[in-house]
Amino acid sequence: MERTFLMVKPDGVQRGLIGEIMRRLERKGFQLAAAKLMMVSKELAELHYAEHKGKDFYEPLVEFITSGPVFAMVWEGDQVIALSRILMGKTNCLEAIPGTIRGDYASHTRFNLIHGSDSPESAAREIANFFRPEEFVTYNRDI
Ligand code: CMP
Repeated sequence: MERTFLMVKPDGVQRGLIGEIMRRLERKGFQLAAAKLMMVSKELAELHYAEHKGKDFYEPLVEFITSGPVFAMVWEGDQVIALSRILMGKTNCLEAIPGTIRGDYASHTRFNLIHGSDSPESAAREIANFFRPEEFVTYNRDI
């Protein structure tokens, strides 16, 4: 069973898309393990986006992600890392296909509503950056 880190970005929170995004993840069959509405500090933003430091979009990206609340989540499921990225759609808004979250709701590459880990290594690092072990809930879905 895999875990991934997904985050509704400030644009998604402010546009009232948390529920729509969670609905898609739930209906796909993934299980929520942790979630919280929070502000991202500059320090956490710089840690989270360290791989992009020096790129032309880095500074505006850090400013954007710290500009308002995000909804941070950990989801579980078989191949949840790759499958949730398919549900999200491509980063570039011109390549995000309708039917995906970004393809349906995003029209800007920075303001692209959602972040998702791109590998097991990223998922482990990002989950540890955003969540403490006691914030997880494990449960069986038997209803
Ligand atoms: P995310 O999946 O969080 O990973 C890095 C983020 O940087 C990306 O989503 C976008 O929000 C942003 N980003 C990536 N490329 C560009 C770009 N060319 N212009 C503006 N923002 C970008």
